[in-house]
Amino acid sequence: MISVWKFLTESSDGTMVPVALHEVLTEIKGALMIIAIDGPASSGKSTVAKLVARELGFAYLDTGAMYRSVAWRALEEGLDLSDPLPQTTRERIAQIATVEPISFGYLPKDPLPSQVFISGEDVTAQIRTAEADVAVSPVSADPGVRAALTEQQRTIGRAQDTVMEGRDIGTVVFPDAELKVFLTASAEERARRRHRQNVKKARAKGQPYTGLDEAAILADIHRRDTYDSSRKTAPLAKAPDARVLDTTDLSIEQVVSQVVALVRERQTPQPADGQPADERQTPQPTDGQPVDERPVRERKAPTN
Ligand code: DC
Repeated sequence: MISVWKFLTESSDGTMVPVALHEVLTEIKGALMIIAIDGPASSGKSTVAKLVARELGFAYLDTGAMYRSVAWRALEEGLDLSDPLPQTTRERIAQIATVEPISFGYLPKDPLPSQVFISGEDVTAQIRTAEADVAVSPVSADPGVRAALTEQQRTIGRAQDTVMEGRDIGTVVFPDAELKVFLTASAEERARRRHRQNVKKARAKGQPYTGLDEAAILADIHRRDTYDSSRKTAPLAKAPDARVLDTTDLSIEQVVSQVVALVRERQTPQPADGQPADERQTPQPTDGQPVDERPVRERKAPTN
C-alpha cells in the first residue's frame, strides 16, 4: 500500500502540502533515476555520460547542446552578444529559449541522440563551431534563458531514467538526483584531450586539421571555466553530495565503470533493516582514486 505521507511534504510554515504531481507519478510508477553528471568544459562529461547511458539503457540529455542551440539562433539573428548583453538581446534570447522547441534526432537502432534541432532546424554541426563556443557563455549566463531551459530539462528527465550532463544538473535542475557525479581534470589535460578529439574528427572526414592549437584551446578552457563558475545564476558548482571523480589520470573506461558501479549500488534493493547499503560500508575506489562519501538522497516526506 502506498502511504499518503509520500504525497505530502512540509512547507516553509510547517504545514503539510501536496508534493508536485510528477513526484506522485514517479512514486506510483516506481522511482525514475536521474544521473547528474556535471563538470567543467572538456572534462569528459559527454563521452562518459553517453557510455554510461548506453550501458544502463538510460536516456541521455546533453544540456550544453540546448544552451548552444539558443546561442546559435542568437548568432543567426545577428543579435548583439557583447558582454554584458544588452536588454533587447536578453529579452529576445529568453523568448527563443521559451518558444523555440529543442529536440534531438536518432539514427535507427541507436538509443542515443546524434542530432540537435531548434524549431525543427538541424543545428548539430553549427552549435560546435568556435563562434558558438564564444556566444554560448553570455547566453547561458542569462537568467531568462536558464529558467526556460531548466524547465524543459526537468520535463525531459521526468519522462524516463536519464543520464543528464551539464554544469548545474546536481545543484539546480535535479538537486534530488539519485546520483550526482562531478567530473574534473586539470585544464592542461582537458586541452590535450579536446585537441586530440578535434584532430581525430578532422581526420575521420579526410580533412587536414585547421582548428585551434592546444595552447589556444587551453586559453579558451580557462575563459570558459572562469565564465561558467563566476556567473550569478546557476554557476558551475559541485553539489555538496556529488561524487568527485578527477579523471586526469583515468581512462574513459575506468571513469565509466566507476559511475556504472555507483548507479548499480543505488539500484540494489535496500536491506530489510532499512539501512541503505552505502551507509553500512564505505565504497572502495576501484583504482586507488579517492572518492567522497555520498549522502543518501533525502526524502522530503516521511515514509511509513
Ligand atoms: O557542455 P558544453 O561545453 O557543450 O556547454 C556549452 C556551454 O553551455 C558552456 O559554456 C556552459 C553552458 N552550460 C550551462 O551553463 N549549463 C548547463 N547545464 C550546460 C551547459
